[in-house]
Amino acid sequence: MNKLVDGFGRTIRYLRLSVTDRCDFRCVYCMAEEMTFLPRAQTLTLEEMTTLCGAFIDLGVEKIRLTGGEPLVRRGIETLVSKVGAMEGLADFAMTTNGAGLSRYAHALREGGLKRLNISLDTLDPNRFRALTRSGDLMKVIDGIRAAREAGFERLKLNAVILKGRNDDEILDLVEFARQERVDISFIEEMPLGEAIGHDRAATFCSSDTVRGIIESRHTLVPTTETTLGPSRYFRMADSDSRVGFISPHSHNFCDACNRVRVTAEGRLLLCLGNEHSVDLRAVLRRHPGDGERLKETIVAAMAKKPERHHFTTDGDVQVVRFMSMTGG
Ligand code: GTP
Ligand code: 5AD
Ligand code: SF4
Repeated sequence: MNKLVDGFGRTIRYLRLSVTDRCDFRCVYCMAEEMTFLPRAQTLTLEEMTTLCGAFIDLGVEKIRLTGGEPLVRRGIETLVSKVGAMEGLADFAMTTNGAGLSRYAHALREGGLKRLNISLDTLDPNRFRALTRSGDLMKVIDGIRAAREAGFERLKLNAVILKGRNDDEILDLVEFARQERVDISFIEEMPLGEAIGHDRAATFCSSDTVRGIIESRHTLVPTTETTLGPSRYFRMADSDSRVGFISPHSHNFCDACNRVRVTAEGRLLLCLGNEHSVDLRAVLRRHPGDGERLKETIVAAMAKKPERHHFTTDGDVQVVRFMSMTGG
């Protein structure tokens, strides 16, 4: 039975675990160009992360998503995947990745029991890709998407953050790419986490309604009630298996149905993406090693601290100083 209910009566079924704050890209909306990363000793070990996943599953979590930073730069990630993948009680086990490491890891992840992959892809233009990620190689990501399919991942999903003047002219091309590759695609409104120096969030904000209007100029979008327990609202197109999703934290707030919490790479249980309320699980893991009951009691008690909602705005102000790369979104 699920023991994780917050003060607003919401049941927590979904854990997003950030396995590292590091990334091989520096996406303009996610990180500063110069980042300092956590010292290794402050980061949870893979064993500590495995223990945490087990505790959350015991408490009723049904879905775990590994995030970063970029989860595939964490050494030993395939070991963590196979340990968690073998745990009973998990209906969904997924990862969000920038895709650059998939040619190398897709097979091992699939073998280890990972069920789904979400891959970030904001542009199909190699030069723009390099500019938006400040370092990434588009071909590596496209090869990674194909490697994931060859490894047997069925429901792949692309994530595209749409920025006015930077990639909003590629919305139809991205839909076409998703159709050709037979993958789903979610379009995301940018959120104001961390100070994005050199990137003007207010000027580039693009709402899901605008994106949807552009897609509907070419495709009929039929709403569905299908859900992955995440924030995406999905639509179907008449002549394709690919679904189009919209993640609209600004224009269609979804906090009332929130079912998730996050754990950062340093073991901070973060109760809401848009707030700083948190509980230090690393301290419990390290002060009381092997005391699973104490860990679970701490997690259950923390639910009372979960805030009702985020208060993000689109005027460019930073609402949360923590960068997105600390939690993987
Ligand atoms: P599925 O399991 O496929 O539904 O994935 P997901 O959408 O839950 O996760 P993903 O890592 O692909 O995240 C896509 C976008 O949704 C990212 O920009 C996340 O920051 C955002 N997101 C996920 N959960 C939340 C949330 O609780 N609040 C807000 N505001 N954004 C979220
Ligand atoms: N706003 C919205 N989405 C973001 N992502 C990273 N930073 C932001 C932001 N500031 C997305 C990435 C990835 C997912 C985990 O979150 O593109 O797909
Ligand atoms: Fe890395 Fe993902 Fe952040 Fe880009 S959005 S810098 S790929 S963690």
